[in-house]
Amino acid sequence: MHSLPASIVVQLRDAVGRENLIVDREPLEKYASDETEDLVFYPAVAVTPTTTAQVSAVLRIASQHAIPVTPRGAGTGLSGGALPVKGGIVLSVEKMNRILEIDRANLMAVVEPGVITQVLQEAVEKEGLFYPPDPASRGSCMMGGNVAECSGGPRALKYGVTKDWILGLEAVLIDGTVINTGGKLLKNVTGYNITQLLVGSEGTLAVVTKIIVKLIPYPPFRSTLVATFDSLEGAAVALTKIFEAKIVPCATEFMESAAIQAAAKKRGKHFPGMEAAATLLIEVDGYDKDLVQKDGERTGEVCLEHGALDVIVADSPTQQKDMWDMRRAIGEAVKGLSVYKEEDTVVPRANLPKLMRALDDIKKRHGLTTICYGHAGDGNIHVNILKMAMSDKDWEEKLPPAIREIFTEVVKLGGTISGEHGIGFVQREWLPIAMTKDEIALMKRVKQAFDPSGLLNPAKLIPE
Ligand code: LAC
Ligand code: ZN
Repeated sequence: MHSLPASIVVQLRDAVGRENLIVDREPLEKYASDETEDLVFYPAVAVTPTTTAQVSAVLRIASQHAIPVTPRGAGTGLSGGALPVKGGIVLSVEKMNRILEIDRANLMAVVEPGVITQVLQEAVEKEGLFYPPDPASRGSCMMGGNVAECSGGPRALKYGVTKDWILGLEAVLIDGTVINTGGKLLKNVTGYNITQLLVGSEGTLAVVTKIIVKLIPYPPFRSTLVATFDSLEGAAVALTKIFEAKIVPCATEFMESAAIQAAAKKRGKHFPGMEAAATLLIEVDGYDKDLVQKDGERTGEVCLEHGALDVIVADSPTQQKDMWDMRRAIGEAVKGLSVYKEEDTVVPRANLPKLMRALDDIKKRHGLTTICYGHAGDGNIHVNILKMAMSDKDWEEKLPPAIREIFTEVVKLGGTISGEHGIGFVQREWLPIAMTKDEIALMKRVKQAFDPSGLLNPAKLIPE
């Protein structure tokens, strides 16, 4: 960790106040890592501004003295987006955590970036409204991080990902300039769509300080079922049949047995279907009770017609909550099993059976242990490669060629190398598999237009 000159620390303290400046190593630990593998990079300092003006002042200081700045939400990211790889300043938005407005007439809300996603969801649900994006970490992740990463989640299948719900932003550029993009508008073709350029830009272009989100009425009815299969590929094939039957569930989560078993162990519970090779957790939601029930029943029938071993309906809200709590626990449970590497593959949904076959082949050929789970209806499968008892030497030798093969196959199937976790620090070396030189060069020019000195979240997204 390179420390900053005392005079700059004083300027930062004056900008945000003593209570919002962290310089000691122990409290800095929280800002040195995120949920990505076991990577640790200490910043020189962390700041926790409470207003846009303070964010602007911090960025102005950073820019004047060429200090790297890493913006940070809750640090739940899985591609190293919040890691201060080049040291410098971590700018945490955790204290900008107010829901500024729930606008019932326009069905929109305005929030600060430090609002926890689930807190926003519960606040709007009290008004009978719905903000659908639901990353597995929704209980702890922050809206600013969701915007930066364009977070997804199970409900993306029917409702889309974060970008589909963001109508406008207030953001601060690296020189301290405050900009506003979009607005409380459902239509807006005035100029380039900077809002959507910033969504998913992983904190490399600007620091978001206010977010306008779209809401819809809360769909009160749901039908939740678990369908079990004797193979991963079988589950993927049945899944495509649900859509061919013209049913769009709000979620079709895929889990192989080892994934459910890891979560079951962590939660000390038994789950229906956990012995089967592969399970789909399917939910249909909507505004019409009979229709939801009918679609739920039909979905179960389609699964049985296409190879499901069993279909179990989670009738009560308690059973439904249990299943979802288990599903949300999988990520951490799998991570707890071993040193691991996670790949966030995504292909067109109909190509999922082919991806499953290819993954099985790659894993066997390279002698690797994998656990797959994810958002099958989105074609988005998290492939967790586990080191287990493998020697360090074998792990280091076998992993890179296997990852290259996985990504090459994914791209061949019309997919790409990250569906919802981002490129960040850990995936950028693989970007050339998914993008041409010209496409990467164009992204570099965009980055340059926003951040000519490369101070904002350096060493992320774009390969060196
Ligand atoms: C999940 C996270 C890891 O799907 O994206 O649980
Ligand atoms: Zn996921």
